[in-house]
Amino acid sequence: MKKIAVFTSGGDSPGMNACIRAVVRTAIYKGLEVYGIYHGYEGIIEGDIKRLHTYSVSNIVQRGGTMLKSARSAEFRTPEGRKKAYENLKAHGIEGLVAIGGDGTFTGAKIFHEEFGIPVVGCPGTIDNDIYGTDYTIGFDTAVNTALDAIDKIRDTAAAHDRIFFIEVMGRDAGFIAVESGIGSGAEFVMVPETQTDLDAVVKSLKNLRKTKTSSIIVVAEGDAAGSAAEIMEKVKSKIQDKNKEFKVTTLGHIQRGGNPTARDRVLASRCGMAAVEGLLEGKTNCMAGIMNQEVVYTPFGDCIGKTKPLIADHLKLIEYLSI
Ligand code: F6P
Repeated sequence: MKKIAVFTSGGDSPGMNACIRAVVRTAIYKGLEVYGIYHGYEGIIEGDIKRLHTYSVSNIVQRGGTMLKSARSAEFRTPEGRKKAYENLKAHGIEGLVAIGGDGTFTGAKIFHEEFGIPVVGCPGTIDNDIYGTDYTIGFDTAVNTALDAIDKIRDTAAAHDRIFFIEVMGRDAGFIAVESGIGSGAEFVMVPETQTDLDAVVKSLKNLRKTKTSSIIVVAEGDAAGSAAEIMEKVKSKIQDKNKEFKVTTLGHIQRGGNPTARDRVLASRCGMAAVEGLLEGKTNCMAGIMNQEVVYTPFGDCIGKTKPLIADHLKLIEYLSI
């Protein structure tokens, strides 16, 4: 293998740049030529591919976003789109790919590998942490700390005004950000897609808590089946029926996706990037390089996509015990 390419795809996450840097520098260290593909799968189809050098990735280890840009590509979901993509890679002489992204990225990579046999190794880049085969995903730690910083600020004003705040955090299908920011901020409740939310129980507890607390924080993962934070707030408010109690909603949104990556994310991203290139050189393909129990682990894309990563067992209990 002499030429490889790297791209980022799906929702960006802080640390993707550190991962790109690690891929580029490891590849060059090992004597490979390395190319950057811009705008994810769309860039493979369009031939938006440029040679990268050691200096191309200078001064990015600390930056959020992705220097290679990211996109979700509808055309790559079609066989015609993937054929075009393969032809472009062939024209550039690219013999291996590093795909940085989440489950959508790996679904595309798996099909692409199966159809054309091109070796692909993935790196887990998503703030959601919902990828099987790695303890943490690149960007998760930064997103949790961003959410935590915001919730701490809301806690100040919630306490000053004796208000109940419903705070919506990202996590379309997973509650990792909600749970960890909830534990860290001392939230009274956390609502996540992994468990069924019992609004009556929440109302009952909130009424009980009024004896000891004048304000409360409820963290809602955006994918919770009971609805958005705003919808849940309306339902709870109508059940509590206390004219003196004020309810507020804050949706944190895309601030969770930006910002300088934490040290944890930079280290994780760098390790995964290096492992992806080493994996390609060892003949690994159709798999993701993740870190489990401090060790590099290569997990087949099929498992990364198909298996569900459960929340850490005692985290929800912790929130319940500590919220009294
Ligand atoms: O998958 C990462 C994520 O940030 C989810 O938490 C969120 O639901 C989604 O991406 C938002 O995607 P977009 O930026 O395309 O609206």
